[in-house]
Amino acid sequence: MDKFFHALRKFARQRSVKDMEANFPFPAVKTKLVFLPSRENVFSRITKSEKYSLLVDKNLLPHLPVKMRKRAFPLPGGEACKNWKTLGAVLAWLATKNTERSEALFVIGGGAACDLGALAAALYRRGMPLTLVPTTLLAQLDASVGGKCAVDFIENKKRIKNFAGAFYPANQVLISPSFLESLPARERRSGLGELLKMLYLEGVEPDIASMQLFLANGKMNASMQRQVQRAIAAKIGFVRRDPLDTKRIREALNFGHTVGHALESMAGGEISHGEAVAFGLFFEVAFAESKRELLIAQRVYGDLMRLQFRLPEKHGSMKGKDWERHFLGDKKMNKSKLAMSIALAKGKIIRLEVAPNQLAQFMARAFPALVQLGKVHPPA
Ligand SMILES: NC(=O)c1ccc[n+]([C@@H]2O[C@H](COP(=O)([O-])OP(=O)(O)OC[C@H]3O[C@@H](n4cnc5c(N)ncnc54)[C@H](O)[C@@H]3O)[C@@H](O)[C@H]2O)c1
Ligand SMILES: [Zn+2]
Repeated sequence: MDKFFHALRKFARQRSVKDMEANFPFPAVKTKLVFLPSRENVFSRITKSEKYSLLVDKNLLPHLPVKMRKRAFPLPGGEACKNWKTLGAVLAWLATKNTERSEALFVIGGGAACDLGALAAALYRRGMPLTLVPTTLLAQLDASVGGKCAVDFIENKKRIKNFAGAFYPANQVLISPSFLESLPARERRSGLGELLKMLYLEGVEPDIASMQLFLANGKMNASMQRQVQRAIAAKIGFVRRDPLDTKRIREALNFGHTVGHALESMAGGEISHGEAVAFGLFFEVAFAESKRELLIAQRVYGDLMRLQFRLPEKHGSMKGKDWERHFLGDKKMNKSKLAMSIALAKGKIIRLEVAPNQLAQFMARAFPALVQLGKVHPPA
């Protein structure tokens, strides 16, 4: 009997399962970006499909034709929609009206609505066709392109941004500058912060005059539209080379964000994300250049002043320890180092890893100096 079991074990060992490899073709999505002059062009594209579902940031509802408004699921405005509760409500709504998996989901709104809507599209019956209609500058040049989507997680009143998410690129993005005319000035400036980031990353001289016009009335002239297209093309370039954000290539898009996130958390809503990022661009370049002449940082500062970006001055007396606390809240923290990608010269992006206290000490000196400079040379 023993012999029998011995032989059986030997046989089982010989037949041990081999490792396998499966080459799956997904995720392979072609995103079509369509630029349309007016909202009406966008709406008629949507209503062309007989069967469709529509999510709309509630602040955009008044701009919709009545027929579409009636059909839409209204999302809480902005970041308030990026949570489990709204995600669950959207999925339940899709299920209750027996939405088929092949039916298209359209999402109209800023980056928050796009993030929430794309995640809902990814989850509903394991994925439905998705069209995004980004209605903020930030969403047009950043959030609607690249496949990332997520909701936040809130615990003890603390928001963990993009805690649960997926990669689910849209099949189509419909972009129209006409949506931006109703955008509040603060949101326009916020988008400009990310636009500047992309242009600096590309080594392109920003056309500040056309940005100033956009700030004044929300209208985009031809030059402004070209800059936005350039930024979108740049983002596509980074995403193509690192679609799942695993090769450290997409990290370049975090330029300005290490300091930006700390500024944003420190200012507690006093400045927008894009405004914080804009100053983050300046401080990060200045930090990288601190041992050389501050030529690029000076230029960045000049651009920010012409666009009337304002520092949250009342936090000017923050000590190194305070800055360090805000830096350690940064999700890009890698153990004891902060990773920063910084665009220094035409297309030259450097990656720095710095100890949080080193950057914190720099900020404790540089921030009050900049506040002071703003007082000496008030922006034109
Ligand atoms: N997925 C990505 O790759 C990616 C990239 C960058 C940012 N994001 C996400 O995007 C979000 C920020 O997006 P955002 O800056 O577009 O802000 P947002 O979506 O929060 O919108 C900002 C405010 O503007 C309102 N609004 C939107 N469009 C409007 C319009 N045309 N007219 C009037 N009001 C309008 C909204 O209701 C809201 O009150 C964040 O949640 C961020 O995490 C995602
Ligand atoms: Zn950003």
